[in-house]
Amino acid sequence: MKRVGFIGWRGMVGSVLMERMTEENDFGQMESFFFTTSQSGEPAPKVKNAFDKLLPAMDLKELSKMDILVSCQGGDYTSEIFPQLRGQGWTGVWIDAASTLRMKDDSVIVLDPVNRTFIQDSMARGVRNFVGGNCTVSLLLIALHGLFKENLVEWVSSMTYQAASGAGAKNMIELLDQMKSVGTTFAAHPAASALELEKKMTTLMSSSEFPKANFGHPLALNVLPWIDSEMPSGQSKEEWKAQVEANKILQTKSIIPIDGTCVRVGALRCHSQGLTIKLKKSAHLSTVEEIVANANPWVKLVANNKAETLKELTPGAVSGKLSVPIGRLRPMTLGDTYFNAFTLGDQLLWGAAEPLRCVLLQVLS
Ligand code: HSE
Repeated sequence: MKRVGFIGWRGMVGSVLMERMTEENDFGQMESFFFTTSQSGEPAPKVKNAFDKLLPAMDLKELSKMDILVSCQGGDYTSEIFPQLRGQGWTGVWIDAASTLRMKDDSVIVLDPVNRTFIQDSMARGVRNFVGGNCTVSLLLIALHGLFKENLVEWVSSMTYQAASGAGAKNMIELLDQMKSVGTTFAAHPAASALELEKKMTTLMSSSEFPKANFGHPLALNVLPWIDSEMPSGQSKEEWKAQVEANKILQTKSIIPIDGTCVRVGALRCHSQGLTIKLKKSAHLSTVEEIVANANPWVKLVANNKAETLKELTPGAVSGKLSVPIGRLRPMTLGDTYFNAFTLGDQLLWGAAEPLRCVLLQVLS
């Protein structure tokens, strides 16, 4: 049995990965070793075939005994440890949630439902670095997989509505703290009118007491139209990733432009996206629907009516699920090659942990 080392398994993406692997009885297929940056020697999680003690995550000797390393520890850890491990001749498979290695020539961005064959071919060619994609990119590609497969897409503009989870666990909690503060202020003024409350909330949001150490700004009762760092193009880094990562995953011969505005909203763990899709040729709505709906087992077409949209196409309905719904699919008045759509998915499942789980199983098989 292959020896698999897990680093960062207690963080948010790591915990969801552990949960999924336990649910699907994956641990029976490997010998597991759990690494830690702070509690080496403490008891390890009690999963099947696991070594019973935690191992030191900064110890290259211990790490290099593994056939496969799965890191959900973050970019700083990858930047520090990965080059040293390879530098001293470790030839195992590195599976990573962080973006550090995504665009390197010797890394494959993994998204099983979309590029499983390419992953398999890459393994056969000796590729040993496999990296999960950006969450909005992965969810977009699962939703539009059919149209890309049929080579129908000329370009996509994606306006995102990204959940707090994408910014990390502390940020999720901060959003809830902000909401608590809003709730407390509301409760203190039971007789106030809507306009009086609005003034109190606006004052509250800009006060120094409002909890915003992590986001830097209020997210509750607000939206934040910038995610990640600034790029010279005027895009945010999150916006820049859409085109470069999607084209790398799809292995396109000529670049399919994908661009838009990425916005943080007060959802907890589902990223949503409003799409304008420019097709290469005109197509009937029913054809587009059929192509979209049948592309992979995870995409789920939601009929474009009010009742089903509001029941099924919301973060509240999709949180914790592996399905990637897409709806609001309709031709636009812009022209007969333009389609509107709205899609969303769980940022921690297909957006982060599930592609890592799939590639790990592929390496083991
Ligand atoms: N960068 C994403 C976000 C999460 O901030 O929502 C990770 O893919």
